[in-house]
Amino acid sequence: MKLVRISLLVACALAAPLAMGQNTAKIKIGLMLPYTGTYAALGNAIENGFRLYVEEKGGKIAGREVEYVKVDDESDPSKATDNVNKLVKRDNVDVLVGTVHSGVAMAMAKVAKDTGTLLIIPNAGADAVTGPMCAPNIFRSSFSSYQPAYAMGEVAAKKGGKKAVTITHKYAAGDESVRAFREAFEKNGGQVIKDLNLPFPSVEYQALLTEIASLKPDLVYTFFAGGAAVKFVKDYAAAGLKKSIPLYGAGFLTDGTLDAQGADAEGLFTTLHYADSLGTPRDNSFRLAYAKTYKLQPDVYAVQGYDAAQILGIGATAVKGDLSKKAEFATAVEAAKIDSPRGVFTLSKAHNPVQDIYLRQVVGKENKVMGVAIKALADPARGCRM
Ligand code: BEZ
Repeated sequence: MKLVRISLLVACALAAPLAMGQNTAKIKIGLMLPYTGTYAALGNAIENGFRLYVEEKGGKIAGREVEYVKVDDESDPSKATDNVNKLVKRDNVDVLVGTVHSGVAMAMAKVAKDTGTLLIIPNAGADAVTGPMCAPNIFRSSFSSYQPAYAMGEVAAKKGGKKAVTITHKYAAGDESVRAFREAFEKNGGQVIKDLNLPFPSVEYQALLTEIASLKPDLVYTFFAGGAAVKFVKDYAAAGLKKSIPLYGAGFLTDGTLDAQGADAEGLFTTLHYADSLGTPRDNSFRLAYAKTYKLQPDVYAVQGYDAAQILGIGATAVKGDLSKKAEFATAVEAAKIDSPRGVFTLSKAHNPVQDIYLRQVVGKENKVMGVAIKALADPARGCRM
């Protein structure tokens, strides 16, 4: 009996500092992002943005220092489950931050849902993660595939286009983007006459560009990003199509890519939840800090990384650094007005940003704001039960 009591005391003495230590030990953040391949630049910008916010807070989140564990997910869905399981089960991260590619993000969401690990998605648009896979511990700081695409469907129809061809990589983000474009375009009197696609991450566009030339649509809608977007815009112009068939896109087509696309991007219209010339004090100070720190101009990916850290900061502060209090973490984030460089946004019940979608046009090296295409656009969160 005495022995049992002593060992209980020892167990309590060991447990107590651990429980208290939860609030002062470093927060382990699993950054699962692409650092190689077509989306490498996007992964780096997200990490830069995330770190910038943490540094602005003195290197801490809710008073706890931060430790990063990084994995290059290579935008490869076939490696995603193993990669995320390593972060959760081997490295015991407190929170997962990732990723760019929708197929990889869906694997992350499945593991997060099954294990209850906090997940903040700083880019991937997969409708499913704030749709059927939505969960109290999953948050997105970026957008759903639906949002910029739906806005462009309205814009393109209002600009008078009647017949459109779409072109994208064949995977969740591309398929969903094209579907949302079609939904809005056809609701507004247009018609999509053909969907073209190629496997991710191929950039062999020539045969598809020849098909576009022979279909002669009024316009083309596209979803490409990163290195694939650079090559598509250049190939579209080189094929002589830019002069005859207007090219519209979800804003990833020209975000973080303008240096490489040069004059071939000039004049292109896109829709997105960020632009280079917002000119608000909040955005100006973010852009200045980012440029000073990294000697680079920020893009939408940097903003999404920054806001992923803000979301973590809001939730973690509300639970005084105790990230095991998931329900209270979620309640705080759900009530927050997030002061983003893109403009203030809130999260929907499904934890996806409700945000303005800007119409932008490429002017020189900038995605210039031409107006707000749709104000406070929420994702429909089809299939989310939470
Ligand atoms: C996606 O896979 O969801 C995605 C990738 C790059 C840019 C935007 C979305």
